[in-house]
Amino acid sequence: MAIERTFSIIKPDATARNLTGAINAMIEQAGLRIIGQKRVRITRQQAETFYSVHRERPFFKELVEFMISGPVVVQVLEGDNAIAKYRDVMGATDPAKAAANTIRKVHAKSIGENSAHGSDAPDTAAKEIAQFFAGNEIVG
Ligand code: CMP
Repeated sequence: MAIERTFSIIKPDATARNLTGAINAMIEQAGLRIIGQKRVRITRQQAETFYSVHRERPFFKELVEFMISGPVVVQVLEGDNAIAKYRDVMGATDPAKAAANTIRKVHAKSIGENSAHGSDAPDTAAKEIAQFFAGNEIVG
């Protein structure tokens, strides 16, 4: 299987509840390696750029406000089939629909405050990693 990298955000609802370590444990238990990580406050401009694909959605403004409401932890994860694997570890976007023992089932508060983001495809993973990490901040 191919070794891939994916981009992750531990969102403000999770950092506010001191869940970074609990979520990282779920990531590592799934066999993914955290090869880049930093806790940051993202700017409105960064959030709008990051979620620009959702610009026309009714929840866009709420999503941006939420993502800048507190610290986040941005991460680069590496492993076999990392993009799909991390989406499995996160569970469905809506925690009510997420499988048991997934990050969102266990920790998320709602579809908006859903604790984690993960890239959905190789091209978006590369783009999202490049938005937040310089090459020398990723150590595999
Ligand atoms: P994420 O995986 O970060 O990608 C887009 C985000 O939009 C998603 O997680 C949710 O947090 C958010 N989102 C999707 N649907 C809704 C919704 N109906 N209401 C509020 N936020 C949403």
